Amino acid sequence: METTRGFLGLPSWRILLCLAAGWMAAEAAPLPQYYNAIFSFGDSFSDTGNFVIINSGKLPNMPKFPPPYARCSNGRLVIDFLAEALGVPLLPPSANKGTNFSQGANFAVMGATALDLKYFRDNNVWSIPPFNTSMNCQLEWFQEVKDTICSSPQECKEFFGKALFVFGELGGNDYSFAWKAEWSLDKVKTQMVPKVVESIIGGIEALLDEGARHVLVPGNLPAGCIPITLTMYPSEDRSDYDPRTGCLKKFNGVALYHNAVLRVALDSLQRRRPDSRIIYADYYTPYIQFARTPHLYGTRREP
Ligand SMILES: *[C@@H]1O[C@H](CO)[C@@H](O)[C@H](O)[C@H]1NC(C)=O
Ligand SMILES: *[C@@H]1O[C@H](CO)[C@@H](O)[C@H](O)[C@H]1NC(C)=O
Repeated sequence: METTRGFLGLPSWRILLCLAAGWMAAEAAPLPQYYNAIFSFGDSFSDTGNFVIINSGKLPNMPKFPPPYARCSNGRLVIDFLAEALGVPLLPPSANKGTNFSQGANFAVMGATALDLKYFRDNNVWSIPPFNTSMNCQLEWFQEVKDTICSSPQECKEFFGKALFVFGELGGNDYSFAWKAEWSLDKVKTQMVPKVVESIIGGIEALLDEGARHVLVPGNLPAGCIPITLTMYPSEDRSDYDPRTGCLKKFNGVALYHNAVLRVALDSLQRRRPDSRIIYADYYTPYIQFARTPHLYGTRREP
């Protein structure tokens, strides 16, 4: 497809985490409308056009395709399937100024991190490109969009109380920049994972303070199965690979560790905010199932 060719023309960090997410492919009749709108935050797993809009005219090889084509996928993303199933339009990218965002907006950007650029610079991680697209930047854009859809604090709170917020996946890129800067496994786990999770919890709390009541929080995917990881960090030692999947164990281990720490923090947040409904979404397990038993999903693993 045209979109795929456009993205393959980009240097590797720009296709970081660009994955087809066609795995929720089953068509389902829309449910009764539970939510008036969906607001989504995250990275390439849910970017519905922001990266392309923000960078059009700035970066070489930028595909010119307007939404809905400017996704890191040759098909729909998980967030698209959610919108379809919940009966709201596909989420317009927030960078598309002038759009009517009254049924939702998508703030996710390819390459976005849970931590701010400053964190990486302060910790001597220079592998991160100098974009201002982190979670906190996305929360600032949310404020701008908010001004276009509701006026009084009361009206806004009521509106957001009926919306679904999808917060993530976030963190996958943070770890990828740490690996690129040659952080050890121990350093990633003890120094970065707690910071990333703390940042995500802070972001969700900011949304709850705006009136959000329904927040879906996807965990990390198995980064050690992603082609770019397998390409960038090949190992001579077969024991570095999980024999059931061919994925690199170290990177998957960090994703699992992140998810465990995140779930504990979400449980605690749910207890502090009993009026809200905070839902963890496991994106890891289905992906691993595809890697373990691809024949069940219409494809084969290379021997
Ligand atoms: C935006 O869309 C909603 C319904 O989707 C509609 O009620 C509203 O009038 C629209 N706002 C503007 C400014 O067009
Ligand atoms: C990102 O934000 C920082 C701090 O606000 C600013 O100094 C910098 O110029 C911004 N970078 C880009 C690429 O917009």
